[in-house]
Amino acid sequence: MNATQQKLKLKLQQALVARFGEEYIQVDPILVAASNPKFGDFQANVALSLSKKLGMQPRAIATAIVEELDVSDLCEVPEIAGPGFINLKLQTSYLESQLNAIKTDPRLGVPRADQPEKQIVDFSSPNIAKEMHVGHLRSTIIGDCIARILEFRGHQVLRLNHVGDWGTQFGMLIAYLREVYPQALTTANVLNIGDLVSFYRQAKQRFDADTTFQETARQEVVRLQTGAEDTTHAWNLLCAQSRKEFQTIYDLLNIKIIERGESFYNPFLSKIVEDLEKAGLVEENQGAKCVFLEGFTNREGEALPLIVQKSDGGYNYATTDLAALLYRIREDQAKRIIYVTDAGQANHFAQFFQVAQKAGWIPDDVELVHIPFGLVLGEDGKKFKTRSGDTVRLKDLLDEAVLRARADLEARLQQEGRQETPEFIQNVAQTVGISAVKYADLSQNRTSSYVFSYDKMLSLKGNTAPYMLYAYVRTQGISREGKIDFENLAPDAKIILQEETELNLAKHLLQLDEILYQVEQDLLPNRLCEYLYSLSEKFNKFYDRCPVLKTEDPIRTSRLMLCYVTARTLRLGLDLLGIKVVERI
Ligand code: ARG
Repeated sequence: MNATQQKLKLKLQQALVARFGEEYIQVDPILVAASNPKFGDFQANVALSLSKKLGMQPRAIATAIVEELDVSDLCEVPEIAGPGFINLKLQTSYLESQLNAIKTDPRLGVPRADQPEKQIVDFSSPNIAKEMHVGHLRSTIIGDCIARILEFRGHQVLRLNHVGDWGTQFGMLIAYLREVYPQALTTANVLNIGDLVSFYRQAKQRFDADTTFQETARQEVVRLQTGAEDTTHAWNLLCAQSRKEFQTIYDLLNIKIIERGESFYNPFLSKIVEDLEKAGLVEENQGAKCVFLEGFTNREGEALPLIVQKSDGGYNYATTDLAALLYRIREDQAKRIIYVTDAGQANHFAQFFQVAQKAGWIPDDVELVHIPFGLVLGEDGKKFKTRSGDTVRLKDLLDEAVLRARADLEARLQQEGRQETPEFIQNVAQTVGISAVKYADLSQNRTSSYVFSYDKMLSLKGNTAPYMLYAYVRTQGISREGKIDFENLAPDAKIILQEETELNLAKHLLQLDEILYQVEQDLLPNRLCEYLYSLSEKFNKFYDRCPVLKTEDPIRTSRLMLCYVTARTLRLGLDLLGIKVVERI
């Protein structure tokens, strides 16, 4: 609810109290955005909900409320419609004053959170010695966007990369490399990630087929866990190699994140199991230590326990997550912990959250949220693969997007007979290509799966990054064409709203705070995309209808200011999505 809605709500409550008495102070006036502009901007539906209690006709109640309601500083005279809705229409002068107030505000009217919190966003989190896949891409893009929005709202955000850098697979890989490629365990940079992935695959095959090798691999795990020097060194080299690969992706995507992998929590794992045992939550099941919870069953209806220690003494993904959770609560003092992974892990999160809850580890003021997302599908609607059927390498996927953006751009430059420098072309292609991938992902409701289509995401039409970037560029074009320095003009400029397209644009501009507040709550970045898309459309309509540079003052300056506030809103909104703008395209 934004500031205007809050004011209206308060005034409605005051009217209720004035008319019906103190006990109505808690009644929700049910203020909603009007479904149709002919009903104004907001509707209060409280009269209908009180009819029974008051034993009065809703219309009579609405009339009584309106008699007491003083909104003259915000709205036109309220109207009563239908069975008893109170329609409220914001006054133009109110909208003008609100816009005039934000036109020089760097935050565009978005307040900081009343109570800033320490929040953790656990995202990206690829696995060492494995390729980063499209699921990790989604996590990276969505997690970064959420972190940006929380940061902008003034929270202290810790961006954590829970890299899969620990576990029995390392015993297997190191044991295998000892046999087939020992230099890889002592010398840096002899393996690339492709090699690493294929060695990993071979090691796994060997492990599954050969019991002696299994034993060697297990010993290697023990050596790693007890800190044997050569094994630790080898492990460090493997991690460094993967890390370098991950970093190229983060650089391309402009992602900042702190690595705190699974290995970080290794020292705490045994204590976790002990504490769960002390809490009486652990049961032995075929040698493994398990926590059974109600409601977690497999397809056959059998109880599905959370295994915290395997029969060979090793710990699991979940044990590490429990340790990480405690660390984040106790050491990091986080009040909200957000995990961004595919929906396939929903069960894992629900389960270990519940175990931690049962163990009494979650203080009342700490909120744990798993935000799941759907799959990325190929254009055939099946799992996203290359033509040859391999999984797609992220680096290739991003490079391809940039390449296609460049081809589009070059074709357009030729058509328009424009000459641009190689730097310009590189910068625009890079920005458009990467933004297109990010925007295509963020503009979907994250819980649904979506089809990855270069053609669609790079299209100039529709809800795409290029469409949005064009709208921004248009605003900058106006300042160039008229030789206007928006920033200089802003402090003394006055916004005056006359045309309908101006009013629509103005109202939309004033809703940014509401949208960001919503995304902060429900963690759905597609809401922000929809907002920006609709802003671009409203701006385009305004720009079609209302001449800017060719108009006389004071309207000219006012319209220039509408362009300026729109430009900044687009730039800020896109920045929160992790998307950079370009000044020309
Ligand atoms: N490494 C995991 C994977 O690739 C994701 C980790 C997510 N974070 C967590 N705390 N479990 O699936």
